[in-house]
Amino acid sequence: MTLPLPALAPVEETLWVTLTARAFDSRLPDPILGDTMADELVRKTGYTNDKLRWTRLSCVDVAQRAKKLDEVARRFIARHPNAIGIDLGAGLDTRAFRIDTPPTVDWYDVDFPDVVAARRRLIPDRPHVHAIGADLTDPTWLESLPTDRPAVIVADGLMAFLAEADMISLLQRLTDHLHSGEIAFNVYNKFTVRAAKLTPSVGWLVPLFKSPGFDRLDPVRWNPKLTLIEEIMLAREPEVAKYPLALRLWTRLGAPSASLSRLGTVVARYRF
Ligand SMILES: C[S@@+](CC[C@H](N)C(=O)[O-])C[C@H]1O[C@@H](n2cnc3c(N)ncnc32)[C@H](O)[C@@H]1O
Repeated sequence: MTLPLPALAPVEETLWVTLTARAFDSRLPDPILGDTMADELVRKTGYTNDKLRWTRLSCVDVAQRAKKLDEVARRFIARHPNAIGIDLGAGLDTRAFRIDTPPTVDWYDVDFPDVVAARRRLIPDRPHVHAIGADLTDPTWLESLPTDRPAVIVADGLMAFLAEADMISLLQRLTDHLHSGEIAFNVYNKFTVRAAKLTPSVGWLVPLFKSPGFDRLDPVRWNPKLTLIEEIMLAREPEVAKYPLALRLWTRLGAPSASLSRLGTVVARYRF
């Protein structure tokens, strides 16, 4: 029996894009991420959408960038066992389960209240994992979070949905409230935004984008507390070995060039 689908606003509905892509990847014989909980959630809700017809080719980007953000969080937590983790615009992602957060870590999944209500209904509780229902542009949601613990903040597929001024003030509030830590997200540069318009599986999302696209160095220009410490170009990462043949060959051809690699997805990691 399937559970009723949550009623969501269009921007909230975008959570299905990433969730169904990760679910598709998990069903492959040799997945990149292997997020079986995503698959369980899709099956549990019976969610289908004709616009989301994933293939081995089209799902790699979502699966790989989630894996990279998991690695950032996992490495940070290994170095700071008393850390807090924050997933901005978490949707129905179950990152805390994937990275298996230890009991010393408090993890916060933040998304709009309706999404958080759906999370509470669909995702099992896990000790020390908290859900915060808030609009990230609201300046008050951070107030309940501890200020004195190192923080790892990730945002997967979020930044395109924030206007530039909102992204700047969100970064400012995070680095003002939290003592120290890292923040990592996939960069939506101007090319990514233009390319999304032409990609059949995601082109319909573009009208929901509020960001005109930004450069990986923009956050450093906007916020002097941020230092760019890593630029993870997916085209240069080991998971390329699992890409379908044509994409693998094409990616490997361009990988020696940073400019070409930046035309693909980049996960930027900053310290504050
Ligand atoms: C593409 S989905 C990605 C969801 C999740 N990170 C994942 O990888 O499955 C974008 C998410 O950002 C959330 N979002 C967008 N703007 C937001 C805002 N202003 N406040 C809170 N959440 C927001 C949406 O509700 C949605 O869940």
